Amino acid sequence: MGRSLAEQSSASVDAPAALFPWLGALFEGVDALGGFPVRAANMLARLGVGRGGRVIDLGCGKGAAAVAIARRCGCRVLGVDACPAFVESARRLAAARGVSPLVRFEVGDFRRLRVPRRFDAAVMLGCDPLDRAAERLRGLVRRGGVYVADDALAPDPRSPYSARAAAAFIASLGDRVEAIATVPGPVLARAVSRTLAAVRANGARLSAERPELRRAVGAFLRAQDRSARELLTRWRAAIVGVRRGP
Ligand SMILES: C[S@@+](CC[C@H](N)C(=O)[O-])C[C@H]1O[C@@H](n2cnc3c(N)ncnc32)[C@H](O)[C@@H]1O
Repeated sequence: MGRSLAEQSSASVDAPAALFPWLGALFEGVDALGGFPVRAANMLARLGVGRGGRVIDLGCGKGAAAVAIARRCGCRVLGVDACPAFVESARRLAAARGVSPLVRFEVGDFRRLRVPRRFDAAVMLGCDPLDRAAERLRGLVRRGGVYVADDALAPDPRSPYSARAAAAFIASLGDRVEAIATVPGPVLARAVSRTLAAVRANGARLSAERPELRRAVGAFLRAQDRSARELLTRWRAAIVGVRRGP
């Protein structure tokens, strides 16, 4: 049997499912939960998404990318996320940035999404690995539309996780990689260390307020440290822009 929505949502931010109701508190003060929203928005603009376009953001988290895309491209964006607290934050962010008329956020499961009409573009940041993201996103995008996803790629071009291997996989689906933006190491390191500082402070506060959560919060913080170490030492964070084939 597949994972429950709470399990999957929690796992995507390296948290035990017991902490699902507390994800809002644990990520307080962190807008981007893994992705690089402005870089993704700039890529969509370069790939031709503009005013009048319709974009969907799967696993939109707290709306950082959806809001950045609406601001940069002037298009409409639908964000879908499993976590109600994140969706609330996303709505507040859109209002604060003045793009509420362009963006809509829904609580939902992107594995069970039904859309009446395909989108001009689809985005998934910080959720599935590129191959799974591509298979999910391309089904939501009209022919000739674009999709953007991020992943940790291996620097060695011979690796099955290299940018070259990613492009070959995308080609096997009938689509074409049109842009790959690698996040520079220092930018990644700053983003990771800001997030770690915030979640450590939030985790300490939550443990003090709710001692029964202390073990789960400890496991969560250890997982955050592990993921950060892996990302900074073994991988290159990259955003991949794809044109959907006929
Ligand atoms: C690492 S976060 C990335 C959030 C956002 N894209 C960003 O970059 O800031 C992963 C997000 O995916 C959401 N998620 C995971 N599985 C989901 C599912 N099946 N349906 C909807 N949202 C899901 C989680 O709730 C979480 O907000």
